[in-house]
Amino acid sequence: MSDLIKLCKAQDVAPGQSLQVDAEGLPALAVYNLEGEYYVSNNMCTHGMAWMTDGYVEGDEVECPFHGGRFNIRTGEPTAFPCVVPLQTYPVTVVDGDVCIQRPVA
Ligand code: FES
Repeated sequence: MSDLIKLCKAQDVAPGQSLQVDAEGLPALAVYNLEGEYYVSNNMCTHGMAWMTDGYVEGDEVECPFHGGRFNIRTGEPTAFPCVVPLQTYPVTVVDGDVCIQRPVA
């Protein structure tokens, strides 16, 4: 059975931008808009206590504001030191203008 969690309106995230959102039972999340494609991952950097939404989106990567580590927004894979642990990502569906993710299986 589908258990979608609505995170925000698609129009709330401009192309090339990110937005922090909260969903019950999940860590803080970051929603990204890459030219109309939406991606969601955990917002806390895997290297330290920094929000990725305070960093910079460049192409399909996001740079952490603390030490300049980078992740691929689509996959969560680290692309620049000192980040070596991937960000958890979530499959995204846009339903009636809402950015949604499937509730992860506990
Ligand atoms: S806290 Fe993000 S790179 Fe160090």
